[in-house]
Amino acid sequence: MKILVVGATGNLGRQVVRRALDEGHEVRCMIRNRERAQFLEQWGAQLFVGDLREPEAFESMLTEIEGVAMVASALANRDYRDKTNSIETVDNTGIRQFLDASRAAGVQHLVFTSILRCDEFPDVRMMAIKRDTETYLERIGMSYTVLRLSGFMQGLISEYALPIMEKKPVRISGTPSAIAYISSIDVARFVVAAFTTPAAKNKIYGVSGLQGWLPREIIDLSDELAGVRQVPKVSILSAGQKRINELIAKLFNPNLLELLRFSEVYATGDSYEADMEETCKVFGVPKSEIEDVETYLRDYFTLLKRRLREKNYQEPKVRSPF
Ligand SMILES: NC(=O)c1ccc[n+]([C@@H]2O[C@H](COP(=O)([O-])OP(=O)(O)OC[C@H]3O[C@@H](n4cnc5c(N)ncnc54)[C@H](OP(=O)(O)O)[C@@H]3O)[C@@H](O)[C@H]2O)c1
Repeated sequence: MKILVVGATGNLGRQVVRRALDEGHEVRCMIRNRERAQFLEQWGAQLFVGDLREPEAFESMLTEIEGVAMVASALANRDYRDKTNSIETVDNTGIRQFLDASRAAGVQHLVFTSILRCDEFPDVRMMAIKRDTETYLERIGMSYTVLRLSGFMQGLISEYALPIMEKKPVRISGTPSAIAYISSIDVARFVVAAFTTPAAKNKIYGVSGLQGWLPREIIDLSDELAGVRQVPKVSILSAGQKRINELIAKLFNPNLLELLRFSEVYATGDSYEADMEETCKVFGVPKSEIEDVETYLRDYFTLLKRRLREKNYQEPKVRSPF
């Protein structure tokens, strides 16, 4: 199948490209910066420079495309110089226009990545946009699969592992939610399988890891694996600090404000865990092959410590090896 990956340079997008190529699909990638996307070309994908804010190019980008993996998002955009790359212009307007263009181009199937429980937070803009996009997909009548995701394990590195290695405080806010983190490599399996799974057509599935983790549990595990032998410092973000952060974000980068508001979704005490029994069965992915948080973090710290040893560091001067 000829698949277009939108968001191909992202954490998940690159794994979707890798997986789709490995499974013998022909892959085209929408990318914004050719230089930063060279590795995708080296893997064997075709590059197409474009932007979800520039609909004029959608038609030519979609020529001969049979499947679209829509895994782009501007939520993590922290580029202060590019304030217009926001969840409004990209996740909302841009993706919607791209869905219209895909339908008009006769795309056979589109996979869209959403967020678990997005229908429960109408006041959080990112969640509302995800839910609206799901509804829009249903309405325009093209063949689709929606995957509602939990959180990616890869995010645990900057949030927990690195601060702990650097003996810096880990920040927690609100009433922590248990999150069943999943590796983006595993998510990519479901995204690619959706193109060849008739039972997943026009349906919404939750995709997560198999076990929910609270921040305290991740902190204790990271501390043990890091072996820094220091009780990790945890700083609880007060309501006042949150307000100040929001005001600063509002001044400098409106997208950062949305990111802060979005992070509150994971501070409500609700758990983010999907029914993986059902999802794995439908997509033909064995549950036993889903990576767990402990293995992921153990591998990370083993690699990190080996690299530090090779460099003969005494004190951890840390950078993510991933
Ligand atoms: N990360 C999580 O824990 C998580 C949890 C639940 C759901 N999800 C969903 O999973 C999907 C992938 O997330 P991710 O964490 O992999 O995202 P990511 O790493 O932030 O990647 C975002 C991708 O979108 C692209 N993009 C941004 N602005 C664009 C624009 N104007 N035009 C075209 N492309 C643009 C980026 O390209 P550049 O490299 O050029 O910026 C990048 O390739 C998203 O749908 C997200 O909502 C993620």
